[in-house]
Amino acid sequence: MKGRCPRPLDDGDSGVPRVSVERGWAKLEQRYEKTPINKSATIIYVSKILECIQSTINEAAINLLNGGLVAFPTETVYGLGADALNKNAISRIYAVKDRPKDHPLIVHVSSISHIDRWSRDVPDYATKLAENLWPGPMTLILPRTDIAKDFITGGQDFVGLRVPDQKFALLLLSEFEKQGGMGVAAPSANRFGKVSPTTAQDVFEELNQYLGNEDLILDGEKCQVGLESTIVDCRLQRPKILRPGVITKSMIEYITGLETISDELNEQIRTSGLLKSHYAPIAEVFLTDNPDEGDGFIALIDIETPKGAIRLASPRDSVEYAQVLYQALRLADRRKIKKIFIIPPSGDEIAVAIQDRLIKAAKK
Ligand code: TXA
Ligand code: MG
Repeated sequence: MKGRCPRPLDDGDSGVPRVSVERGWAKLEQRYEKTPINKSATIIYVSKILECIQSTINEAAINLLNGGLVAFPTETVYGLGADALNKNAISRIYAVKDRPKDHPLIVHVSSISHIDRWSRDVPDYATKLAENLWPGPMTLILPRTDIAKDFITGGQDFVGLRVPDQKFALLLLSEFEKQGGMGVAAPSANRFGKVSPTTAQDVFEELNQYLGNEDLILDGEKCQVGLESTIVDCRLQRPKILRPGVITKSMIEYITGLETISDELNEQIRTSGLLKSHYAPIAEVFLTDNPDEGDGFIALIDIETPKGAIRLASPRDSVEYAQVLYQALRLADRRKIKKIFIIPPSGDEIAVAIQDRLIKAAKK
């Protein structure tokens, strides 16, 4: 996605939120560049860890085609993948996650050129978004074709599609497609309602006991974005953000030239990220700054740790906040901390996505 977002040519037009589009991109790209990509990855077979090279990516692709589950890294969070055409494999995802059956799954493909396999009558504005932002941390909800069965869409006539921007995810998807696969359905690789995993170790700790011997965890690298993709509902005349993320409202409005639809105009759609309680660690989350001795504390770096509290993360800005947040929540659980006090960031649009997750994490 780098470098393909239309950049402001000048600052002549008023009314277009160009500055924040530019700033958002600059920050995101900076982060991508700063985080080195590992040369190798590892597959964790439920009980053993193996070095991952092209041959193990091939093995993972074959595993998907044979009906196995493969957890894999994306730039947002780790996904729990299955062949999107295989009803049995998909039902195992629901069982492993303990997820309600009517919550649809996002289908992942390796390239925008595969969008027509899964969706039809794609509105122009959705094509613009896909062309500018894929591969990238954005999911589009589009009218489905016949191959998107009810067991993927939760019985809705719309399918969620995404091209992830992560080297190993793209290798895996390409190999899967080369061998005849159409798409990989992948929710975040956590139990329903819990914190999304951003490392293979998180997936292992959370799902190992529910996975079978035929399932794999592909250990690529730590997720560089750290928050789930922005979900854009493309069912109506204008885009509507169902789940905020690092692809922001300003970017979407800038690219499409359309104002996004506000909440009130949206009818009911089944998106688990819309549930009031979600993304929750075992510890209780409070969005206030008054921890007691031994409580966890998360805030931007320039905010001091209250006396006696245990600092779990000190991100420098909201991009870094997104990257480290889920690690910090999991760290609290590993250290058996019972309460976490969090001061969310404010001021920019990525902060909006973080606030969204934290408000849900705080509502048990
Ligand atoms: O970043 C992400 O999106 C990650 C990575 C693995 O790609 N995936 C992810 O999946 O977060 P999941 O299932 O944990 O969250 C996807 C959300 C769910 O709330 C689901 O209900 C919604 O997307 N969704 C998927 N397909 C949909 C559809 N056809 N209509 C409405 N909502 C849909
Ligand atoms: Mg999820």
